[in-house]
Amino acid sequence: MSTNQLDKKSEAWSALFSEPMSDLVKRYTASVFFDKRLWEADMAGSLAHAEMLGGEGILSAQDVRDIQQGMARIRQEIESGEFEWKLDLEDVHLNIEARLTQLVGDAGKRLHTGRSRNDQVATDVRLWLRGEIDLITELLKALQLALVEVAERHVDVILPGFTHLQVAQPVSFAHHLLAYVEMFARDAERMADVRRRTNRLPLGSAALAGTTYPLDRERVARTLGMVDEHGVAQVCQNSLDGVSDRDFAIEFTAAASLCMVHISRLSEELILWMSQNFGFVKIADRFTTGSSIMPQKKNPDVPELARGKTGRVVGHLMGLITLMKGQPLAYNKDNQEDKEPLFDTVDTLKDTLRIFADMVGGQLNPATGLKEGGITVDAQAMEAAARKGYATATDLADYLVKKGLPFRDAHETVAHAVKAATAAGCDLSELPLAELQRFHPAIENDVYGCLSLRGSLDARNTLGGTAPTQVRRQLERHRQRLA
Ligand code: ARG
Repeated sequence: MSTNQLDKKSEAWSALFSEPMSDLVKRYTASVFFDKRLWEADMAGSLAHAEMLGGEGILSAQDVRDIQQGMARIRQEIESGEFEWKLDLEDVHLNIEARLTQLVGDAGKRLHTGRSRNDQVATDVRLWLRGEIDLITELLKALQLALVEVAERHVDVILPGFTHLQVAQPVSFAHHLLAYVEMFARDAERMADVRRRTNRLPLGSAALAGTTYPLDRERVARTLGMVDEHGVAQVCQNSLDGVSDRDFAIEFTAAASLCMVHISRLSEELILWMSQNFGFVKIADRFTTGSSIMPQKKNPDVPELARGKTGRVVGHLMGLITLMKGQPLAYNKDNQEDKEPLFDTVDTLKDTLRIFADMVGGQLNPATGLKEGGITVDAQAMEAAARKGYATATDLADYLVKKGLPFRDAHETVAHAVKAATAAGCDLSELPLAELQRFHPAIENDVYGCLSLRGSLDARNTLGGTAPTQVRRQLERHRQRLA
């Protein structure tokens, strides 16, 4: 047999077929132009498999050495861009195997002993995704740190907190940012959890039923780092399940969707805050664009796109989960459709996280050792906004409760005071004491302390509250957690 016998994949499964595929069907069924990005995982899986076959005496030591050398060469070819990816060879697996056989002959043909593309691809996707989850975890940390840094500088900056987008109660800007840190911390937890279930080995499941060769699957798992926190090998325990389920990819995309949803909420706030009606923050010009017709415009394109791309990632989740729903056991070609949505989810999430860490926190200037170019905050505009809308009305009610009124009565009393202040066109704190006392005689001069924004913040001194002491405590906790 000629050494380049696998140049066409039809030759990989012999004489059974009586007619060639049309070009359209070839293109329709091929995945190489997107799954070639799995090449490194594919190679790692093949090498671990070959070493194990060698260890079990299924392959000779010479075959294993040939495979290792051939793979090293292929690595070079791929890295230098020399490698010729062939549509005719359908996917990344057949492309690499064919080249290996071209380079090393029979050893290349023996590599597939005790293996199928079904357990091979399931292993590749898991290995690849594991690496991406690790990168995403780092990016999530960088974004959390960027938010923490900005928060540290703005503990005493007060803005209106909203419910129903109506002014509700004043909050510290740092407290507001730390709400997002909590969300991204949970996203990182979810990623760690998905990683555990992703990091399990399908190889050895073969096509669907396991294999007749005495494979040491746990050894392969250990070689590939598919071990739990105690170093115990993690191997898919049912061959039918191992080759067919893509639940780990679905879970990952669900976690990615949630993370994008959090970014989308932050985006929505940045867009609002940047509008002329709020004027709370600015983002650096490098994240905005102008208008081709309105010379005064600076549009928040990056947050808007992040909000838009969230839809795309959520769409991938729907795509993947729908892909799975009708599949009988075991492997079906439907699963080839898992890759593009998964790849695009990873790319979109990584780019978005990177860009947000930079947009929020800025970049380190090595000359000064300081970060520059992050969001800038207009503390005065925030505070002015917090003075509108009777943000301290609840504080007045709480004040009356402390003077002995039942909360419901206090609530009612303050509603009357707000109505009077609205009619007078002023804030509660601007009503003279005599006027306030008309609503309740228990009101005394000390009321003005609780009507101030700062007083309102300081009073919310319970765990998780917006009092600066609490916020500083949380900042400290996040610093330790992220160190
Ligand atoms: N390209 C295929 C995929 O992505 C590889 C597995 C093919 N297996 C098969 N029996 N046709 O799922």
